[in-house]
Amino acid sequence: MEKLAIKGGAKLQGEVTVSGSKNSSVAILPAALMANSEVSIENLPEISDIATLSELINYLGARVEINSSHSLTIHTDNLFQWHAPYDLVKKLRASYYLLGSLLTRFGKAAVPLPGGCILGPRPIDQHIKGFTALGARVKLEHGLVKMEAEELKGAEIYLDVVTVGATINIMLAAVKAKGKTIIENAAKEPEIVDLANFLNAMGAEVIGAGTDVIKIYGVKELKSVEHMIIPDRIEAGTYIMAAASTDGNVLVKDVIPKHLEAVIAKLKEIEVDLEVGEDWILIKGCASPRSANIKTFPYPGFPTDLQALIMPILTKAVGSSIITENVFEGRFKHVDEIKRMGANIRLEGRSAIIEGGCGLMGAPVKATDLRAGAALIIAALIAEGETVISGIDHIDRGYQKIEEKLNNLGAGINRICLEEV
Ligand code: EPZ
Repeated sequence: MEKLAIKGGAKLQGEVTVSGSKNSSVAILPAALMANSEVSIENLPEISDIATLSELINYLGARVEINSSHSLTIHTDNLFQWHAPYDLVKKLRASYYLLGSLLTRFGKAAVPLPGGCILGPRPIDQHIKGFTALGARVKLEHGLVKMEAEELKGAEIYLDVVTVGATINIMLAAVKAKGKTIIENAAKEPEIVDLANFLNAMGAEVIGAGTDVIKIYGVKELKSVEHMIIPDRIEAGTYIMAAASTDGNVLVKDVIPKHLEAVIAKLKEIEVDLEVGEDWILIKGCASPRSANIKTFPYPGFPTDLQALIMPILTKAVGSSIITENVFEGRFKHVDEIKRMGANIRLEGRSAIIEGGCGLMGAPVKATDLRAGAALIIAALIAEGETVISGIDHIDRGYQKIEEKLNNLGAGINRICLEEV
């Protein structure tokens, strides 16, 4: 039980390097279980979600060999277990990718309904629709998703909503299915492209990832491979927002700027001074932010994962801003916490209306999910006085050494144990 104590007021300065993508890694580790031998993965972020997933993989009988803090090799020869334990599964949403990968590996899987951030209802009906179309018999019993298939067969699947999770799970279940699978209305996130590149390097035939139609031609074998995870666009966006919000000057390195086009366009509208290079983004400051209207959409739209993080800078802008959350129904839990710090924000349905221009003040606040937690860190950086954030296990799930990276830029963040508070 730890907290972060943050002294506000510093303008961030310097350079920060982005780690590997959390959301790619948490899909690629379960996907590795489908290979018949070893798979090496580089540029993994050092976060608790990866530690939990490694524990899960070891439990299933595969062996995770840690090569360094960012690289591991998974030996899959002895994988024997297709039933994942609730205690580990409940810790992260992405454990549901074991459904697709274990189904491919064993023709059966039993995985408890997943945990992860509470962002409103998060059904998995589209995953189940996909598995069923591929020939699996799916049962929901005692909080467990149980599946079995004598033979998986390619199918045409139209997703009723654009979903990252179902697109990935169907890809995993289809790579060795007999014949051709077509996923229509597929999600186009860069993490899906990273997964497709990984699968194709293992010998799969996945075509069209990054577009809304993905075709998968089933193959017989998936071989050993080495893969480098792409940079985390949301972590990059976090440091960009922190720099811009504090009117700082920060070079964010190891970024793929193409992955952040919608974010860069919005920041320019807010009058953030920035420069974009091949693999870096330089934030040069934002003395007087302008108000803006922001609507989240699946990629390439403005990411829901950065919605909370752009809110603090809008509390500084003169006039009203509107943020509309179109992806998750209940992703405004940070609003009450930022309001504790003095912000003037009201919720109307799926929109948050921010009346800017009033300064934030430090306060005790609580991280209710991963990105809400990161948003509170940014709010604390621009607030007057000290903010103490609890619930930071959410933040540790997805950010590698966040306070160390921000302190290197001049932030004043201390991690404290509960006894010291
Ligand atoms: C992934 O969640 C990410 N998680 C989320 O990252 C991210 O916010 C989200 O995609 C959207 O980009 C991981 O990659 C592990 P969805 P996921 O399936 O896959 C509805 C973070 O902070 N839906 O694309 O769970 C769903 O309710 C996080 O890193 C159905 O209706 O998101 C939501 O409204 C949290 N039925 C919408 O689709 C389904 O079967 C998008 O969800 C599946 C989803």
